[in-house]
Amino acid sequence: MRRILVTGGAGFIGSNFVHHALGASDAAVTVLDKLTYAASRESLDGGGDRVELVVGDVADQPLVEKLVAEHDAVVHFAAESHNDNSLSEPGPFIQTNLVGTFCVLEACRKHDVRLHHISTDEVYGDLELDDPARFTETTAYNPSSPYSAAKAGSDHLVRAWVRSFGVRATISNCSNNYGPWQHIEKFIPRQITNVLDGDRPKVYGSGANVRDWIHVADHSSAVWEILQRGRIGETYLIGADGERDNLDVVRQILTALGRASDDYDLVTDRAGHDLRYAIDATKLQTELGWQPAYRDFARGLAQTIDWYRAHESWWRPHKAAVEAGYAAKGQA
Ligand code: NAD
Ligand code: DAU
Repeated sequence: MRRILVTGGAGFIGSNFVHHALGASDAAVTVLDKLTYAASRESLDGGGDRVELVVGDVADQPLVEKLVAEHDAVVHFAAESHNDNSLSEPGPFIQTNLVGTFCVLEACRKHDVRLHHISTDEVYGDLELDDPARFTETTAYNPSSPYSAAKAGSDHLVRAWVRSFGVRATISNCSNNYGPWQHIEKFIPRQITNVLDGDRPKVYGSGANVRDWIHVADHSSAVWEILQRGRIGETYLIGADGERDNLDVVRQILTALGRASDDYDLVTDRAGHDLRYAIDATKLQTELGWQPAYRDFARGLAQTIDWYRAHESWWRPHKAAVEAGYAAKGQA
């Protein structure tokens, strides 16, 4: 693969993947990104002349067709990604996550280009806290929010285009990512920046909800392996055995920053809040030999805290508006 098109490549995970691809190969990478509020051009700095940024919409069919025709593979990250926003305004989630994926699929079909579709573990709904089972590739779809329903729909579109049209696609469903360049609307960076500001972390409901945390660099390495060696038509779950409840994460952030571990606020819960996600990544590990590099959450979290401390100029301009949005919903 000499030329790779990465949709959503100026976002949190997409930009990490771009840097991973540049390091792992001599491919040229084109990023197609609309540069929504969630994107940042700076996340692509250091890519040199092997990266080109095209500012545009993944739901712009003529643009997507033209770009796809010029590439050997597409890795499709572009999406509206925040559950809370999908509850306030679902429209953009339908447009980008469903119509955008449809446009990518049609272009890949027309030009017979390899596709890897990035999805989420949220398509499977949630688990009880004491359920011994974890999500696998055969778990039934049962999404809860407009975001996860739109992602589930996009997975179904990919499967239909594989089966009906022979599109050469793979899918991955990953658990919750953390690391540098994540927008401060999301849980971990919101709480880190709250504490750096001298404020208290804001935890939804009782804080008992469990997420299965994976470092973004491990998500990228897994996607790279699937792109190179994954079997066409297959789905691979990506996770790193990182289950933790939200209170545990907040206490770790507080402690790491020298504050009392109970110095947080419980705030209004998210509507339809999924209780627990948990990934069984056995297929990815046994079939492709993938293993995560970040096995120590405390270490990865400490590095992430250091990164947000060192990059205040990046997040500071957005902090007040993000917190005002949460305040309007009783979550600040
Ligand atoms: P993000 O919100 O940080 O980035 C999304 C990127 O897509 C942004 O750069 C944005 O400008 C771009 N984009 C949005 N709408 C677009 C459009 N219409 N046309 C072109 N570009 C558009 O999201 P993220 O957290 O990096 O997530 C990336 C992908 O990974 C998504 O598909 C998401 O569903 C999936 N995913 C995320 C996680 C997670 O924990 N964040 C976990 C599993 C899967
Ligand atoms: O599981 C993968 C998914 O992880 C991705 O598909 C999504 O794109 C990504 O945003 C993430 O979804 P979550 O809803 O799990 O992530 P979020 O960071 O919004 O919230 C994580 C947990 O923390 C969740 O239980 C809600 C809770 N939360 C969140 C915020 C923003 C709080 O308690 N307080 C907060 O301020």
